[in-house]
Formats: sequence, C-alpha cells, structure tokens
Amino acid sequence: MTMSTAEIRNAFLDYFASKGHNKGTSSSLVPANDPTLLFTNAGMNQFKDVFLGAEQRSYTRATTSQRCVRAGGKHNDLDNVGYTARHHTFFEMLGNFSFGDYFKEDAILFAWEFLTKELKLPKEKLLVTVYESDDEAFSFWADKVGVPVDKIIRIGDKSPEKKFESDNFWSMGDTGPCGPCSEIFYDHGEDIWGGVPGSPEEDGDRFIEIWNLVFMQFNRQADGTMLELPKPSVDTGMGLERISAIMQNVHSNYEIDIFQSLIKHVAELIGTTDLENKSLRVIADHIRACSFLISDGVMPSNEGRGYVLRRIIRRAVRHGNKLGAKGPFFNKLVAKMVELMGDISEDLVKQQAIVEKILLIEEEQFGKTLERGLNILDNELSQLDGKVVPGDVVFKLYDTYGFPSDLTADIARERELTIDEDGFKAAMEEQRNRARQGSNFGTDYNDMLKIDADTEFLGYQTLTSDAQIVALIRDNAEVEILNDGQEGAIVLNKTPFYAEAGGQSGDQGVIKIGDAVFIVTDTKKAGNAVVHFGSVSGVIEVNNQVIADVDVSRRKAIGLNHSVTHLAHAALRKVVGENVQQKGSLVLPERLRFDFSHFEGVTAAQLLEVERLVNAQIRANHEVVTEVMDIDAAREAGAMALFGEKYDDEVRVVRMGDFSIELCGGTHVKRTGDIGFFKILSESGIAAGVRRVEAVTGDSALAYVHDLVAKMQETAGLVKADQNTLAAKVGQVLDRNRSLEKEVEKLNVQVASAANANLIDQVQVINGVKVLVANLKGADPKSLRSSMDELKNKLQSGIIVLGIPGEGKVNLITGVTKDLIGKVKAGELVSFLAVQVGGKGGGRPDMAQAGGSNPEALAGALESVTPWLTEKL
Ligand code: ALA
Repeated sequence: MTMSTAEIRNAFLDYFASKGHNKGTSSSLVPANDPTLLFTNAGMNQFKDVFLGAEQRSYTRATTSQRCVRAGGKHNDLDNVGYTARHHTFFEMLGNFSFGDYFKEDAILFAWEFLTKELKLPKEKLLVTVYESDDEAFSFWADKVGVPVDKIIRIGDKSPEKKFESDNFWSMGDTGPCGPCSEIFYDHGEDIWGGVPGSPEEDGDRFIEIWNLVFMQFNRQADGTMLELPKPSVDTGMGLERISAIMQNVHSNYEIDIFQSLIKHVAELIGTTDLENKSLRVIADHIRACSFLISDGVMPSNEGRGYVLRRIIRRAVRHGNKLGAKGPFFNKLVAKMVELMGDISEDLVKQQAIVEKILLIEEEQFGKTLERGLNILDNELSQLDGKVVPGDVVFKLYDTYGFPSDLTADIARERELTIDEDGFKAAMEEQRNRARQGSNFGTDYNDMLKIDADTEFLGYQTLTSDAQIVALIRDNAEVEILNDGQEGAIVLNKTPFYAEAGGQSGDQGVIKIGDAVFIVTDTKKAGNAVVHFGSVSGVIEVNNQVIADVDVSRRKAIGLNHSVTHLAHAALRKVVGENVQQKGSLVLPERLRFDFSHFEGVTAAQLLEVERLVNAQIRANHEVVTEVMDIDAAREAGAMALFGEKYDDEVRVVRMGDFSIELCGGTHVKRTGDIGFFKILSESGIAAGVRRVEAVTGDSALAYVHDLVAKMQETAGLVKADQNTLAAKVGQVLDRNRSLEKEVEKLNVQVASAANANLIDQVQVINGVKVLVANLKGADPKSLRSSMDELKNKLQSGIIVLGIPGEGKVNLITGVTKDLIGKVKAGELVSFLAVQVGGKGGGRPDMAQAGGSNPEALAGALESVTPWLTEKL
C-alpha cells in the first residue's frame, strides 16, 4: 500500500480521533510564552503546561501534526541535513498525548495497532527499544503485543555519571517535563548500511527510528533533580517524513512525494540535472524551514531565533551557489512551498509575499559578500598546514563576510577538513556575551513563579469586588503573612484586576484588607493565578477577606488604547496591505505602540489615511461586541489571530462593526465612540521588516493636539503670523535670511579690501624689500587668502604676514612674491611663526598657512618677523 504524505497525516489524526483524542492544530514554530525554548521542537510543546499540571484542558487525550524545527538548542539536526537520509531542520511530528489518562500500555497498543493494522506494516520489519530499567514497558511489548524478546532492546544511560542521558530518556530541554521512552524502529533491509539501536553501526540508515513513545513522569529541575509530575502522562512523536518514506517504499526521506516535487523544482530553477546532488536536498530542506519560520513571525537577525534563521538561509544560498545558481533563487521557491504545503498552514499562504521579500533581501545581502568570502576561504585552505581550519580564520569569515561558523564547517567538511571550534568560540566570546544579554533563552522554567491557584477573572463585568487571599508571595516564595511596609504579591480567589497579557499592561489599584491597604502597582499571570504586585501598609494574612478596587480611570484609558489598537491594525491592513501582521503591541494608559511586519516605511499619505479610517470608525460608534466561541468558528468568522499566541479551544472574540474582528482577552470600551479621537505620533522601523506606530487617543490625543497648536502659535508669534500665513511667513523669513547672508558676504569683501588699502600704509622696507606684517583681529579667516592675493598685487614685490587671533585659536598666512622666493620661502616663514603660537603649518614657497592654539602669542610672533627677515634678506 502506498500513501501520500497528506494521506498518512490524515490517517494518523483520524485514527487517534477514533480513540477519543481531541484533534488539535499545529502551534507556531515560535513557542508561545516559553522562554526556555528556541523553536517548537516537538508536538508536546504546546501541552507543556498541561503535563506540568499548570493548565487544564477540557480533554485528556489529544492528537496533532506539529511543525517542528530542530536547528539550535537541545535538539539540533542542522549539521546532519543533507548528509543522512533522515535528518531535517524542519519536519512534521505526528503525536498522540495523554494528560494523566492512559499510560504505557495503551500508548504501546495504539502505536502498534496503527502501524500494523492501519498502515499494514509487516511486523517482522519492526523492532523496539525501551529504557534499560523499564521492565514494565519491556513486558508490555513482549507479552501484550508479542514482539519477540530479541527484538526488544534495552538502552541505558550514556555513562554512569550521566544519569538519564540516554536515547531512551526524553527531555524537552534542560528543564521541564521528561521521562523514559520506548522507540519503534523500522528495518529498511540488508541493502542499506547500518546496525540495530545500541550497536556501533546504529547511525547508519538501515534501522530508522520512526516513533518515540515517551512516558512523561518527571519535571526536571535545573540542578538535575526530578520531581514527579502530578499524573503519569504520554507524549509520542512520529516523524511524518520518515513514515512516509516507508509507506512510499523509499529509503530516504528525500525521496518522498513532497521532497521529490520540491527537489525537481529547485533543480529546474537552478538549471541542474543531477537530482542526486546533496545540495538539492539541503536547499529543499532549508526552504521548508525558512518558509515556515518566517511565516510564523521570525525575522533574520544577528541573535537568537533570527540568527538561526539567517544561518539556514545562508547555508541554502551557498549550496545554490555551488550548483551554479545565478543570482537570488531561494525566494523563488516559496511559491512551490505554498502549493505543496499551504494546506497545513494558512499563515504560509497569506504571507507568501512577505516571505519571498524577506528571503530576497537576505539573499541579496549575503550574495554581495559570498564570493569574496569564498575566495578568502579558498586562499586560506590552500595554505593550510594540517586538517584544521584555525579559529581566527573562521571568525574573520564570520565577522567580515557573514559566514556562520557552521557554513565554514560545511565547506571544510566537503574537503575533509574540520574547523577549530574552540578557537572560534574564544574569538566569538565577546560578541556572544553581547547577544546573550539581549535574550532570555536558557531561562529556567522552574524559576518562573508558580502558584497552585485558579483565580476567577471578574474584570470584564466589574472593577470592584470582594475576594479572599489564597496566597501571599514575598521574594518569589509563598508566605503566610505580609507585614507592614513590605513589598510582595497577593493572589486572590477572584479578582477584577486584569493581568498583563496581549500587550495590555496589568491593572493598578488598591486591595483593602480591613484596616490594611495593599497598593497594587502591577498585575501579572502565573499559570492560572492572577498575581497582584505591590506593597502593604498594615498586616495581611492568607485567607483574609478583601475588597479589590481597580484604578478606574487608568483602566478606562487603557481600554481606549486597546480598542483603537484593533482598529489601527485593521486600518493598516486595508491601507498598507494584507501582509501587515501584528508583531508586538503595548497598551498603556497614556499611549499605545503597535509593531507590525512591513518592508518599507509607511508613507505620510498612508498614515493620514489610517488616521482617517480609524477616526471614521470611532465616529460610527459601533458597539464593541465580545463573544466566547469555538476556535474554529472564530477562525471561520475571519477573526485575526496572532502569531505565537496559544489559544484555548474556546476563545474570546472582539468585534467592532464589520471593520475589525480579533481574538483577544483584553478589556475594551463599550462603543468605539468612547475612544474619542485617534492620532498617530510617529512611524519608524525597529528591525528588518518590522515597523512601529505610536499613537494616542482620548485625552492624550487632545493634549497632543493642544501641544502642537501651542507650539505652532508660539512660532507664529515669533514671525508675526497666524496659522494660515505661518508657512508663507517662515518662507519669507528664510528668503530674506538668504539674501542678507549674500549681502553680508559682499560687504565683508569690501570691508577687507578697504582694510587692505589701509594696510599698505604699514609696509616697512627691510634691506630694500617691502614687508607687511599685520594683525587682522576681527576679520573672517576665510578672507585671508583673498586678502593675501590682493595685497601681493598691490605690493608687486614683497613679503606679507597676516594673522587673525580668535577664541583659543590663531590663523596665520604668509606670502612671498615670486621674485623673492629665492631668498625667503613662505612655508619656512609660516613654520617659524606657527611654533610660536602653538601650532604647525606649511605650504608653497609663495603662500603658506598655519593654525595655532595660542592667540596670546600672536603679537610676539608677529614682532619676531622683522628680526628674522633682517637676517635672511
Ligand atoms: N516528544 C518526543 C520526541 O520528540 C515524542 O521524540
């Protein structure tokens, strides 16, 4: 039986749906609210909090086909791509999950049934592994399924010191949910090189792991200790490309339907006929990763996620180059990707244009330096002594030509060389530190505040409520009591306070506890608990009854800015284009900030149009309608959802007329008219392809306009104009200014010339030569040369020295008429003088200039001219 990749994906999801699993959708490649993870690397990521018990779902079984990237962080396959039959940066993971529902036995039975009954794989082709000490899993395989014991392989830890470091112990990252696992392998047959798992030949392509069943049991802490999860759970992952290879009777993932179409397309585009070339595989793999990363909101940059993306793009471009690609080609593959894989991601389809544009820009940028970098590398390699490319060469290529070290390693590998990683790392340390400062990756998930409480949010209906304290926090730990004057946090059983989310800042206000008062300065979420941060006067204890009062005017001001953010988002998409996607948002009481993807500056005319549209919607005074509905119904209704946001099955939809419909948990105005007035303050670029608009509403907008008017009036007053005549008047003032400047210039020349005439009276004669030495205090240094020329003309024959003292500086010029340069040189004379005024100078024999820093010394210097010349002449 052969099946297409799409058919296998559907068969898997349908099978598990028939076993009571909720069919979910893939989450974004950018993990939602999870600083511990670079990219989504497994199907279980979106359920992490459910495994940890920090989040509840309405179901206990789920199934998904999850897009994953393993190119950085704990699970990194980048270096293997193109060199094995089964590694990818991007792949799809089919998974079934149990949240405290079934455990090992059913996980094993389901997997076996799906493979052997649904897909009809021959049993004798399968073998399995279990964690060394997992007798339970072993006996399920042997006794319940009937796998011969010689086909059940126990795999232990990599070494006694590295406990739980094993191919059969799976962890998402350095911290978080993990557990022993059991893997199912498929034997591609004797023709393919490779050995069974655990054997020295296990890295070959004969026995391929297709499905990993993880028995989630622990939450790994940063110090290595393992805390039990609330309930034993199951997380499984089967590589869709690997199972497709089997179902399509091929031995390499690159031979499956999707890859074949893609590889043929790449080959056509580049104009190569060797379809077996490894570079084609690399490019086909990388365009999948890049298309999805960008359509999931990652932008190429020099750190974090963006840097990984940039590395993948550059690696692809270099392989294209090797195949002889002329000019940018990588971006042209996106259309094919949309055709082949658009059915699994609407975002990819919608974002095609922006993905193409970003790739094109990156390609062009890298193309400029690629050739030079390759020449340098070739040169270095030809002189290389030994087999290792030195770290400083790797660093130079990185620093000057944008060659990521793995790209250099890749090129080195093709020539059977390696790179000096340590040397490179040492050279990089400085840069790395800088990059690290700006990023949070590596944060220990367990350091994040975790409170086992469920706060009911009342803040959509009311801004004041009674409630009970269920937890108190001080210095990140739960306490029983907060004493007078202490800072800390309160968790209530219910609260009208909005916890920061979706860009909307957390509420402020007061919580009254009898005579004690807790001033709330910020409100945040921790799991399902709402945490009120602030300080107390008086003493408060867990279980105290309270009255919680939100700062009403602040919340209202926030509401205006949040609602208008939705209108502005919709207006930007209408005016600037559908490619506008929200990249970030900040909603404060006094203003709002909205970041979105777009490639060039939004023009002034477009901004005016956005303002006009938004204000028209404000005046239309739509009722702001919020509804809770099924996520699919919301998507159907066209609600805008955000990248990287994790949505539950039930979502809240906020609608403003026909103009805007968005998924949003925030608080809003009742009617759009409440916003009053919308005014954009600025538009600017904040990163490649990301723009930022800042704006104000309501009172702040009015205040902004008042301020503009006041400044305008002040300016008008200065030029004696009003608002209608201001521009013309300022224009006149500028014109007049320009003509006055010209006049001054002319007068200066006249004045200097008159002064020069007077100067002639000061001429002295030394040994028959006319000599003029003058201090032109107050004259413009720019006029020195023309004065010199004029004076030379007047004297016909002679030597002239002019000096102008200024603020902390001196300008000097010396001139000697041609007939005298045999006796005295202007350059020599000016050098003699310059040292006296703290400077240096020089020039031609007939004219030389100098500057100095000591104006007080000018008089003395000028006096020294006569004795000096007397000697020379
Ligand atoms: N989360 C497990 C894996 O990625 C299933 O292998």
